Amino acid sequence: MNAIQIFDTTLRDGEQAPGYAMNIDEKVRMALQLESLGVDVMEAGFAVASPGDFASVKAIADAVKSSAVCSLSRALEKDIDASAAAIKGAARPRIHTFLATSDLHLKYKLRISRADCIKRIKHAVAYARNLCGDVEFSAEDASRTDIDFLCKALDAAVAAGATVVNIPDTVGYSTPDEFAAIVSAVMNRVRGIENVTVSTHCHDDLGLAVANSLAGVRAGARQVECTICGIGERAGNAAMEEIVMGLRTRRDAYGGLSTRIKTEEIARTAHLLSTITGVRIAPGKAIVGANAFAHESGIHQHGVLSKAETYEIMTPESVGMRQTELVLGKHSGQHALETRLRDLGYDLDETNMAEVFAAFKALADRKKKITDRDLAALAESRVAAKPSDAKEWKLESFVVNSGNHMSATAQIALVRGKRRVQDAAIGTGPIYAAFRTVEKIIRHRFKLEDYRIEAVTERRDALGEVLVKISDSRGTYRGRGVSTDVIEGSILALLVAVNRMLEAGK
Ligand code: KIV
Ligand code: ZN
Repeated sequence: MNAIQIFDTTLRDGEQAPGYAMNIDEKVRMALQLESLGVDVMEAGFAVASPGDFASVKAIADAVKSSAVCSLSRALEKDIDASAAAIKGAARPRIHTFLATSDLHLKYKLRISRADCIKRIKHAVAYARNLCGDVEFSAEDASRTDIDFLCKALDAAVAAGATVVNIPDTVGYSTPDEFAAIVSAVMNRVRGIENVTVSTHCHDDLGLAVANSLAGVRAGARQVECTICGIGERAGNAAMEEIVMGLRTRRDAYGGLSTRIKTEEIARTAHLLSTITGVRIAPGKAIVGANAFAHESGIHQHGVLSKAETYEIMTPESVGMRQTELVLGKHSGQHALETRLRDLGYDLDETNMAEVFAAFKALADRKKKITDRDLAALAESRVAAKPSDAKEWKLESFVVNSGNHMSATAQIALVRGKRRVQDAAIGTGPIYAAFRTVEKIIRHRFKLEDYRIEAVTERRDALGEVLVKISDSRGTYRGRGVSTDVIEGSILALLVAVNRMLEAGK
């Protein structure tokens, strides 16, 4: 078989990484983009972990049509039941169950013998197969498992009905040669392996996750587990975009293997993840970093202009990285804006479109050149705001005073439906004063968990993008605001988060 199945675990292993937690709506948005990207399987979460996890796995299973949707479960009946219930509505459901097989894990974590481990694998896989036709078994810490025992464990999984067996390098310990040898041993020694898919799942603790995954593929694996931008536990998982483009760019080295990924959707998917989580993509990140296709030195620029292949092994367009800047300005109409936003992946409803257009016009008065990134930031602040009804707090006006010999003061007027509320507060700085004022107006206390301000574009009239994270006893809420005025951007970001917080509390 020449096709490599891409199993995306951004929403499960990726989401476990600090800073990447997403709420249910964000997960569904991400899942739909992963579907557009063309992933074969997506791991939507760990259904038994919490009611919130269960709800998001279910929402994804109900929404996604073309990719298989899977839920992780320990080798326990209650976990498998939760997974089966959560993915019931999926067009292509899969249950993923796992148990550690290394002596280290058996002795110190599970406190069970090898014989018990085999019994539990058989039971869990057979139990899952009764509930779902597609069952994946993962031998956690496979790369540090005695190879004879690993083959026995996978024998048991295959005999019990597993359709996929996964070989995780759970702690990112393996080297490419070693990992390939493990996959080869499994391919040669596990009974019935020709009837199931062998999968890799590599972590990046030594920076080898992608190299190990590709070595696994060369040795016969036909499914690769990975995440967008390699996000995941500790140092992360194998980066999907690197695996996909590695296979595509070096078909010669990988025996003509290919994936079904629509590579032109890669950049959009990575940017969506960054937008949703507020975690920036490192400029030097392979494939999707801002510098991945930038040529600084004169020699390189000259070479690329004469023939792109001199310094480019793939084109920016092939991964959906646009090089051109937008030429929209204050005379552009809503239709032009709508078309541009659609190209950028934003299909906004009428209300959101009208709001983005108003914000675009206001911005165009203050900023000559509006780039794609500016537009994406404007659109994002609307999509994230989810204006459900007139219950949303909106900014009407603000005045903030600050100086080095005075306390900062803020006076803000907010509207909510027909109600207008105005108040004022002082603070040690202008942002603090503004946030205190909002808290007084909405009459709900929250804790500021994170506040970040970034210039979306590089010029003096740069659009400032503010990311705010607040929490109350019920949860954590993110907001994003954009403006050429950082205080306005901060209040807008805070209101997005506040509206989400109040919506969640209803
Ligand atoms: O890293 C790991 O071993 C895992 C398994 C649960 C597949 O994430
Ligand atoms: Zn993992």
